[in-house]
Amino acid sequence: MTGLTISSGLITKLKLRGGLKQQKKRHKKGCFTARERIELLLDEQSFEEFDMFKSHRCTHFNMDEKHWPGDGVITGYGTINGRLVYLFSQDFTVVGGSLSETHAEKICKIMDMALKNGAPIIGLNDSGGARIQEGIESLAGYAEIFQRNVMCSGVIPQLSAILGPCAGGAVYSPALTDFTTMVRDHSYMFLTGPKVVKSVTGEEVDVEQLGGTQVHTMRSGVAHLAADSEVHAIQQLQQLISYLPQNNMTGVPLTENNDSANRSVPLLNELVPVDANQPYDMKQLIEPLVDQDSFFEIQPDYAPNLIIGFARFDGMSVGIVANQPAQMAGVLDNNSSVKGARFVRCCDAFNIPIVTLVDVPGFMPGTVQEYGGIIRNGAKLLYAYAEATVPKVTITTRKAYGGAYCVMSSKHLRGDINYAWPSAEIAVMGAKGAVELIYGKAIANDPEQIGKREQEYSDAFANPYAAAQRGYLDDVILPERTRFRICKALTMLTNKRDTNPPRKHGNIPL
Ligand code: HXC
Repeated sequence: MTGLTISSGLITKLKLRGGLKQQKKRHKKGCFTARERIELLLDEQSFEEFDMFKSHRCTHFNMDEKHWPGDGVITGYGTINGRLVYLFSQDFTVVGGSLSETHAEKICKIMDMALKNGAPIIGLNDSGGARIQEGIESLAGYAEIFQRNVMCSGVIPQLSAILGPCAGGAVYSPALTDFTTMVRDHSYMFLTGPKVVKSVTGEEVDVEQLGGTQVHTMRSGVAHLAADSEVHAIQQLQQLISYLPQNNMTGVPLTENNDSANRSVPLLNELVPVDANQPYDMKQLIEPLVDQDSFFEIQPDYAPNLIIGFARFDGMSVGIVANQPAQMAGVLDNNSSVKGARFVRCCDAFNIPIVTLVDVPGFMPGTVQEYGGIIRNGAKLLYAYAEATVPKVTITTRKAYGGAYCVMSSKHLRGDINYAWPSAEIAVMGAKGAVELIYGKAIANDPEQIGKREQEYSDAFANPYAAAQRGYLDDVILPERTRFRICKALTMLTNKRDTNPPRKHGNIPL
């Protein structure tokens, strides 16, 4: 380069990063390059890149002889459907996408800009973690990123895609973000890779077993979404952005809606089986209830007894939380409680109204759950609902038993609008358990008496009217009019203002 001219050769070199050979290798593996991923994510021609010339400063292990322009990460801003986002895209062809001090500085710069300008930050992660050749500088770099992740939390949406084998800091930073997607058979997340695991613990494990997509979307709950391809993962990020506001001070996105708020959904009248022990699929309720094709389920494979996801009512973004009677009768257990709590808090942080659909037989009893901390974990969900100040609309379709009644956005936890279907049963517990406890041995051998007492209990509690008489329900509504009533309630609640007492922060039972 001389004077003010930048040769096309230099531009090519700047853009190729780890080199043509390495990039071809990536394509052979079915991966897009870091730059191609950005092109897929952003509106055409909207990307502005920063720090393309920035280079690492490491001199150990002959690193001073090797330099890659931009040092393994592309950073900048652009738009998704016209909305400003900041992003970074790590380049595995440069020292395995590992994080040098320079690489960290580039990411921190755009995180600071995203926070200052109130726009989402998206990380396309493809990195082996802290650059081992650098040591403390790269660790410090990660700590700087983590600090910013925490400062951004609840202020601007933070989204992560895992697009390769990611380790160490490259998984802790995504864990601090709001949503993470992984690509099946292609993305991995672990503290450290199989080679180090073997040397430290002797355990032999492959990348898939250690931190594959199944592990994190079904078992650990670390990732929220599984994608079939990189393109699919990027579409998921775009979809997530469409439901989220730019920041915690702006309103939720309103999209054009061609689905009438007044639409009746007659099939809901038949959805709940007469027999209270028969399951039904809550998704068959959600899909026709919300604006057409607007339901986007989050963590579908983790704790499926509780459904969470985004949807729209009359064009307005909402968070849906729903018990799923088709899975473990919709009971609340450790995993589903934590899953729900995190989602409720996320919606609350970003002013997204919460619609809760209740059919819950209670909390799961027993040693497995108790040893796993169901008291603490259940309390998280309770805490999340109780502190949430966003509009909260609750529909009880069938069971709302015991502590789970209290927890699932009840009137007592500042539920704004609480409706129930005529099929609702709101009680401390089911008739069978209640009769056993109330009458015990006295009628234990008398099936006729048991039946009579159970019927008595059901007549008193297996309906919504006792709760409605006390104002714990605002109305008992026709299932087919549920969409209309929710849309109306959300419109009424548009300017809702509610606050919590001034404090540094609450102490959620983590
Ligand atoms: C330097 C790295 C690297 C790293 C990968 N590479 N990770 N270089 N620092 N962290 C280099 C490799 O040496 C190799 O260089 C190239 O990138 C490609 O890596 P491969 O191992 O050939 O790729 P693959 O077989 O696909 O395996 C990917 C991997 C593995 C599973 C990520 O590279 C791995 O286990 N890396 C180390 C992961 C790790 O333990 N990171 C933790 C860092 S500590 P050549 O020249 O051969 O092409 C950390 C702490 C942060 O992050 C704080 C947390 C709280």
